[in-house]
Amino acid sequence: MSNSNIKNLLVDHNETIRNALKKINLSGLKVCFLVKNNKLKNVISDGDIRRSLLKSLELSDKVKYVKSKKFIYVQENYDFLDLQNKISKYGIVPILNKKGHVIDYANEKRIRQIPQSEPLLKGNELKYISDTIKSGWISSRGKYVNMFEKKFSSFVNNNYCLSTSSGTTALQLAISTLKLKQGDEIIVPDYTFVSPINSIIHSKCKAVLADIDPDTLCISYDSIKKITNKNTRAIIIVHLYGNSPDLEKVLSFCKKRKISVIEDCAEAFGTRYKNKHAGNFGDFGTFSFFGNKTISTGEGGMIIFRDKKKYELAKKLRDHGMNQQKKYWHDEIGFNFRLTNMQAAIGCAQLENANSFIKKKISIQRKYESKLKIIKYLIFPSPKKYYINSHWLSYMKINPKLKDAKKLRDDLVYYLNQKGVEVRTGFYSAHLMDIYKNSKSKKINYKNSKQISNSIITLPSSVNLKDKEINYICNLILNYKLIK
Ligand SMILES: Cc1ncc(COP(=O)(O)O)c(C=O)c1O
Repeated sequence: MSNSNIKNLLVDHNETIRNALKKINLSGLKVCFLVKNNKLKNVISDGDIRRSLLKSLELSDKVKYVKSKKFIYVQENYDFLDLQNKISKYGIVPILNKKGHVIDYANEKRIRQIPQSEPLLKGNELKYISDTIKSGWISSRGKYVNMFEKKFSSFVNNNYCLSTSSGTTALQLAISTLKLKQGDEIIVPDYTFVSPINSIIHSKCKAVLADIDPDTLCISYDSIKKITNKNTRAIIIVHLYGNSPDLEKVLSFCKKRKISVIEDCAEAFGTRYKNKHAGNFGDFGTFSFFGNKTISTGEGGMIIFRDKKKYELAKKLRDHGMNQQKKYWHDEIGFNFRLTNMQAAIGCAQLENANSFIKKKISIQRKYESKLKIIKYLIFPSPKKYYINSHWLSYMKINPKLKDAKKLRDDLVYYLNQKGVEVRTGFYSAHLMDIYKNSKSKKINYKNSKQISNSIITLPSSVNLKDKEINYICNLILNYKLIK
């Protein structure tokens, strides 16, 4: 922020309403700061003046008589989160020094929190979406839906791609094609975004929580072996933060027992396992195009299939279970899980830049790593021989062996948030939440899930993140005295 034009917003309380209006007019900010002996006395908006004029005041009256609502301010050593809250409530916030003098102001435009992950929509998104509007094809029919599925198909090298309204509906649709019975069990990691767990429960199956591997953050093979039983019908592998478990071991275990495998690749667009795109190893791979994902359609998802028959069934289920030849004749109890033509248009444009987005995401993780690796208490994801992580979201861990690792992690996150950096503490272990208590297995102690949940920090990772922003974040961390 710069305070070069702050004087243009200050109005002495004895000045006239006319002069105050002139200042408001010049600044274009719709408010002025009323001062007495240079100290802030009030914040007056053009609306406050309008209401006072309509009531009784004249333009020649003193501005101090204008009635206004309660005003707010922050001190110069403000808490960033407090300032953010005030900006979202009041729009403009004066910043005062110890003497109560206005030294600056903040509003949405003058302050930017560095976000976790925001979409970049600077390619053909606007062009293609305008095309859908001009053509009138704005719901799920129209050329972009097919085009998006085709382009996605060639990107991940899979012939059976079906778009959906979200990553969650992709999971639910995949599970529905398995035609499972109430009480059938599906194994899912305890440490994940909750969407795959909810999808199982909504399908009337029993979700059984497995522990994770502390290195890959993905479902642990040992844990799978412990909780598999005669009711186990499927396993959802979540490629968390672009990671992958040892797929071969899990797949051969599942093949022997006729257990279906769903790869949740919501966080792994661009991740390649032994040179093949993630999602191509199980029976299904599901993707999310939520706004924070590597490519986004706002909301949206995709399923890729190994089996053509499952693809065709899912296509029917996605569209109310309607017979594709006989309109309004329903063969299945289906859903409406379709992606719109407008969303697909954005998706087509996003795919045109997908390779450069993935490259950028990987380079962001590497930059954090190279600048911060000298800090001994931080652990970064170690590169693996068998897969390339596309690093949707960069992350690091506070060494969990440290005493008070959770407190240290929470303090660092709080500090960075205050400094305008949106870092997060990741997910909570699902088994600790009351609503998932029936999914807990007595055979598992969830040690790794709890440990990761207490030590991880996810870092800003937008594709438009600037090097100077990465440097700013790293310098804050380098200068932060974690161990006091
Ligand atoms: C691992 C995982 N699975 C599923 C989803 C759900 O995707 P959506 O938000 O598109 O429903 C997400 C996140 O958004 C996710 O991170």
